[in-house]
Amino acid sequence: MSRRLSEISWDEFNKIAPADKAPYLVENERPAHVLTAQQFNREQLDMLGALATQVRFIAKTKTGMKFLRDLLSHKRAMLYFSQPSTRTFLSFCSACEILGMSIGEVRDTATSSEFKGESREDSVRTFSSYFDLIIMRSEIGGLAERMAWVLSNTDRPVPIINAGSGKDQHPTQALLDIYTLQRSFEQRGGIDGKKIVFVGDLARGRTVRSLASLLTRYNDVEQCFVAPKQLQIGEDVLAMLKAAGVKYEVSEDFESSIPSADAIYMTRVQDEWDVKKGDSTKIDTSKYCFTVGHLVLLKKDAVIMHPFPRRNEISHDVDDDPRAVYWRQMRNGMWIRAALIATIFASDDKIRHYSRKNI
Ligand code: NCD
Repeated sequence: MSRRLSEISWDEFNKIAPADKAPYLVENERPAHVLTAQQFNREQLDMLGALATQVRFIAKTKTGMKFLRDLLSHKRAMLYFSQPSTRTFLSFCSACEILGMSIGEVRDTATSSEFKGESREDSVRTFSSYFDLIIMRSEIGGLAERMAWVLSNTDRPVPIINAGSGKDQHPTQALLDIYTLQRSFEQRGGIDGKKIVFVGDLARGRTVRSLASLLTRYNDVEQCFVAPKQLQIGEDVLAMLKAAGVKYEVSEDFESSIPSADAIYMTRVQDEWDVKKGDSTKIDTSKYCFTVGHLVLLKKDAVIMHPFPRRNEISHDVDDDPRAVYWRQMRNGMWIRAALIATIFASDDKIRHYSRKNI
């Protein structure tokens, strides 16, 4: 049952556990805002993946592209990115363009009125005056949630999509990761029963946190967290997995985790969060890199993923191996984000209908 964000105080909403916020984030069975990975259930993940595939096929022809471009040509999206981004930003731009939306952007608050002392709340309210959707990335954990609550209490409650907030959430990255896994395991019975190995900076990587919680929507998925002690996954994630009855493993030994993996999810050291600049350099991460020598240990039908940007966690000579799916994973982001935005604006049925008739 859906509940309205405008009917709850910020303090009350803020105290609710991520998984229990879901009823506040839907309206007429569609996402009203996309703030957390936990708001998605299995049915929605299946639906979004199928829709992304339909968009992907429709976009292959000129007439298909024309159809897609007409869907939301009356809508405008604002991309408000106060943290660096290449892929997430560009894939959202592309997703909006595929659906015909026009876009505005603020990427550097030194060029916006925030430089003159305007609060982020006033900035976001300003965007809502001109745009129909706000896609935001911020270094502040929970900011997208706060803004969604603020807007829901105004007369322009436009949807907010969280494109990465602090160390806590990156829901649309988790969606594209799930879509990549769905596609990779299409011929192998889907994601159920697979083993996913996360490697790298699991303490501060928001993509890992978001994906770990979405994987609990699948049956018998085993999760394995491989990192040096200082960068190991948070106890809160492990408690969440325990509560969900998920089988998990915590390890420091990367090499021995490779042979049983169905997917290996590499991540970079998130040193922008170092308390003291240079702290991360004191941690030995050299054993947490996927090199070409590791390929022989990997199952024939396993996949190697990475949210990117990468540094040295995956050597470039691994790229040519068919199991390296990170470039496709990136492109999947554009399709799933287009599917998500189409769903928010109730154009999903039109896509399904077009696909049935033409594809
Ligand atoms: C990730 C992020 O911003 O959290 N990047 C992305 O959106 N693909 C991962 C990272 O920066 O390491």
